[in-house]
Amino acid sequence: MKKLIQDFELIKYKELNCEHFVLDIKAKEALPEILPGQFVNVKVDNNSSVFLRRPLSIHNVDYERNVIQLFVKRVGEGTKSLGELKIGDTLSVVYPLGNAFSIPKNAKTLLIGGGCGVAPLLYLSKFLHQAGNEVTIILGVRSAHDSVSLEAYKPYGRVLVTTEDGSQGEKGYPTQHSVLTNESFDYSFTCGPEPMMKAVAAYSKANDVTCEVSLENMMACGFGACLCCVTDTKKGNKCVCTEGPIFNIKDLKW
Ligand code: FES
Repeated sequence: MKKLIQDFELIKYKELNCEHFVLDIKAKEALPEILPGQFVNVKVDNNSSVFLRRPLSIHNVDYERNVIQLFVKRVGEGTKSLGELKIGDTLSVVYPLGNAFSIPKNAKTLLIGGGCGVAPLLYLSKFLHQAGNEVTIILGVRSAHDSVSLEAYKPYGRVLVTTEDGSQGEKGYPTQHSVLTNESFDYSFTCGPEPMMKAVAAYSKANDVTCEVSLENMMACGFGACLCCVTDTKKGNKCVCTEGPIFNIKDLKW
């Protein structure tokens, strides 16, 4: 898939909670095909101390308006500066990067996202729904204050929530949700903190569920040149930015 470097205009900024925000960015030209699980690398022009582009998950795509939604967590200088952009500002974006989640047909699918890992699951749920799958999405956050907008996910499946303090949905981690013991699934897809993804992988192995995870290794170039994102798999070292970020757990040493 051809990679592009294009300027996008920031047309909308939405604060979700104190940590997360969503940027709607608009291209001048028609968008290329973008698959669920792929990401973009964004240049942070409004902070001269940030040299490297920032990899961000693609949250949603609107082909009619040439708009990509990026879900961002403030974790450092770069992402903090992205949150200070003004409507009308220009962002240089390299995309679409990485591989994509598999899309089965007519299966029972389970999507589990924790923290910022909920980002790629919206676009994925759209594809899974369109392919006739039954979609269950579990979104895990620390408390109701950290909750993301659930309405966006609801057209594509059943949305369940867990909070660590019990202030919304079931109390606990997403991998402790009762639906995992009460129902069975054919496929699971997960993104978020590694311990959570490893718990999803363990559940999937134990229950014969095909499982794909989105790895969030440190990245710099985003196109296979710097090797800072390499992960050791059963098939040897793999660049997460070009051969991932999506991996089937049978290929990982988990
Ligand atoms: Fe540079 Fe993957 S980020 S090789």
